[in-house]
Amino acid sequence: MALDYSKIIEQESEKEFYKKTHKNIMEYIQIHQPVTFWQIVRNVQGSDRRVLRLLHQLTLNGSLRKDRKKISLSHRFKRKDFKEEVCTKCQGKIIPIEGKFHQVLKELHKIILTKPIPTFLFDQRPVTPITSVRRVAYLLWRGDLEGKNIAVIGDDDLTSLAIGLLGKAKSIVVFDIDIRLVKFINSVAKRKNLKLKAHTKDLTKGIPKEFYAKFDVFLADPTPSPKPFELFTSIGLALLKSGSERIGYLSFFPSHQEKSMEFQNILNKRKVIITDMIPKFTEYDFLPSTYNTNDLALLQKFDSGDERLSFHENLTRFETTKNTQRKIFKVNLQQMLGKATKRVMKNPEKDPAYNSEDRKFILSTMKKMKFKS
Ligand SMILES: C[S@@+](CC[C@H](N)C(=O)[O-])C[C@H]1O[C@@H](n2cnc3c(N)ncnc32)[C@H](O)[C@@H]1O
Repeated sequence: MALDYSKIIEQESEKEFYKKTHKNIMEYIQIHQPVTFWQIVRNVQGSDRRVLRLLHQLTLNGSLRKDRKKISLSHRFKRKDFKEEVCTKCQGKIIPIEGKFHQVLKELHKIILTKPIPTFLFDQRPVTPITSVRRVAYLLWRGDLEGKNIAVIGDDDLTSLAIGLLGKAKSIVVFDIDIRLVKFINSVAKRKNLKLKAHTKDLTKGIPKEFYAKFDVFLADPTPSPKPFELFTSIGLALLKSGSERIGYLSFFPSHQEKSMEFQNILNKRKVIITDMIPKFTEYDFLPSTYNTNDLALLQKFDSGDERLSFHENLTRFETTKNTQRKIFKVNLQQMLGKATKRVMKNPEKDPAYNSEDRKFILSTMKKMKFKS
């Protein structure tokens, strides 16, 4: 049934993607119904707010029906008689979060209450706390944690603290441009007596040579566009010890974007071997400040009470080879700026951190980034 996509998307360029999203959501509901809004965001594709508007339009035009926050196809569509569910113990993420991992998750939930509010100036978009703990569980299972020197490149997700809390890594070093985050990570690490040190560094200016070739494993969650992706990957490679079978973890293929060859091409060019790719592993936290009044009203109608998220990406693990290219990718801060950052440069009120006690920090950072508020 025809839909008015202008009520769903924010730019004409998104139309084709949300047409496909529409089709995929209908197929998902046909197999799994009744489902919640959050199950759709978690298991199909699209950003939370656009999916919300899409579902609203589909209920208005009679394609879907909603019964107490559960969504089904209307009677005019035939139900499929098979249902494939992911493993209920691990939710398709391979390792269940139980026992010691559950303990780390509980601690992380408490720690996060006082963490700095994310800023779009540095394109921050933290993952859910359980995603950070799932990373730790995955690394441990894969043999990439116990006794290893680990670098975390950009850590608005606080994955370094989750690693530290488990207490199995030999050392953890974090690099991030955000001094608030670095101070916060160091203060928690000190209080909890973790083998963890964070450093304030702008990666576009490189990393001091003393850190080169010192690590067994790196983790990074770069902005999923080619320049930041190659910068973060190349810094990670320079930090890894020489030789083969050193390990990198990345996330890409955001569920709100068309899939592209570019990330894979960068990894091929760097001559690393992709060993694992777990789809939908990395879940990005719901950010209420991104919702306008209309979206918030829709959310009230569709919010089913299960864990919220904004979008998802995969988890990708790779290994170095003897031919891996470790040269640091040259790019300046201006070339790294994504859509969200540019929007905040024009209007700082769009930044979650500006609307908190960190307003001064946001304004002075904008000045340093040579933009006027
Ligand atoms: C780039 S953000 C990406 C957020 C999100 N996980 C995603 O995939 O969209 C990840 C981390 O990198 C940090 N970061 C951004 N630009 C940086 C830079 N030039 N140098 C160092 N860290 C940077 C941010 O502060 C943040 O903690």
